[in-house]
Amino acid sequence: MRITINNKEIECNEEQTILEVAKKNNIEIPTLCYQEGFEAKSVCRICVVEVNNKLLPSCSTKVKQGMIINTESKKALEARKINTELLMAKHNGTCFDEDKNHELCKIAKDVGIRQVC
Ligand code: FES
Repeated sequence: MRITINNKEIECNEEQTILEVAKKNNIEIPTLCYQEGFEAKSVCRICVVEVNNKLLPSCSTKVKQGMIINTESKKALEARKINTELLMAKHNGTCFDEDKNHELCKIAKDVGIRQVC
């Protein structure tokens, strides 16, 4: 089947998730709760992408013929930022182990959150 990600037509199969197809085609989507090789839990919603005007978690959404996906739309980026802020609120602005490269902190910086980790 064929889908479109960020205006690029891509060949894929129905067993794949949006995230898997994106990764295979060097399209980066940030993830937090997703662990390759394990069933997606879809709890953090950091990996949201826009599909036909809807926001869907790319780690658990299987591709469908003709899907038009935008990983960097304004809507997707805003949702990603809000979801990160919600996770950061629980995070209390301190890293669990003083590790400044903590994954959530890296994502926060990537989405433009100024909170110090
Ligand atoms: S990586 Fe957490 S919902 Fe997709």
